[in-house]
Amino acid sequence: MNRKIIIAIDGFSSSGKSTLAKAISKKLKYKYIDSGAMYRSVALLAIQKKIFDSDLWNTRNFIPILKEISLKLKWNKKYNQTDIFLNKENIRSKIRSEKVTTKVSLIAQIPEIREKLTLMQRNIGRNKGIVIDGRDVGNYVFPKSELKIFMKGSIEIRSYRRYQDLKKKGEEVSYEEVKKNLIYRDMMDTSRKISPLTKSIDSIEIDNTFMSIEEQLNLIFQLINKRKK
Ligand code: C5P
Repeated sequence: MNRKIIIAIDGFSSSGKSTLAKAISKKLKYKYIDSGAMYRSVALLAIQKKIFDSDLWNTRNFIPILKEISLKLKWNKKYNQTDIFLNKENIRSKIRSEKVTTKVSLIAQIPEIREKLTLMQRNIGRNKGIVIDGRDVGNYVFPKSELKIFMKGSIEIRSYRRYQDLKKKGEEVSYEEVKKNLIYRDMMDTSRKISPLTKSIDSIEIDNTFMSIEEQLNLIFQLINKRKK
C-alpha cells in the first residue's frame, strides 16, 4: 500500500529542517508547510504595526490586529521557497530579514497567535500527504504524524551554515551575530510555556553535525518507506 502520511520535522534553528522537508515533498509530491514562515509573517506584521517600538511593547494591543490577517502559502519552484501572501502582499523575502529573525521568537510566545497558526496548519494538512517543519509540529500540531523527526546539530555548524546562507544573499552580518541569534532563539523556543521545542519519545533524532544531506535523506527515506506500507 502507498498510503499518504504526515511527516513532521522539528528541531533547533538552522538545523537543516527545511532543506530536508523540501527534498522530501518534492520526491513524494507532498505539500510542504513551512510553519516558521507563518510565525515570521506575523512578526513582520507586528514590526510594520510598530508593536516593538516601545519598551513597554504590549502584545494585547496586537491581538485585535490578528483578526485582520489573511495568510496564503504557495510553493515557488523558481526560488525553491514558499511564497507567503500576507493580506495579498507576497512577503517571501521580507520574512527572511534579520529584523524579523530577531523578533519572531517573541511573537511565537503569544498563545492567541499559536492558536490561530496551529488551526491554519491543521487545516492545510487535513487530507495528509504533507511535510511540515517547525518547533511544535510533531508534538502539538500533528501529534499523530506517522513520522516524526527531531533535528539537531552543533551550534558551530548551524551558525556557520546560516552565516554562509546569509552571506550568499548579500546580508551584512557577522558569524558571531548569527551565532548569538541562534542561541537566543533556541533558548526562547525551548523555554516558552506553550508548546516549547522538545523531542517527543516517538520522534527519531537526527544529529547532522557530521552528516551530508544525501546521508540524511537516505536515512529518512528508509523510515518513510516503512511507514507508507
Ligand atoms: O523555522 P524558522 O527558523 O523560520 O522559525 C522562526 C521562528 O518561528 C522560530 O525560531 C520559532 O520562534 C517560531 N516557530 C515556532 N513554532 C513553529 C515554527 C516556528 O514557534 N512551529
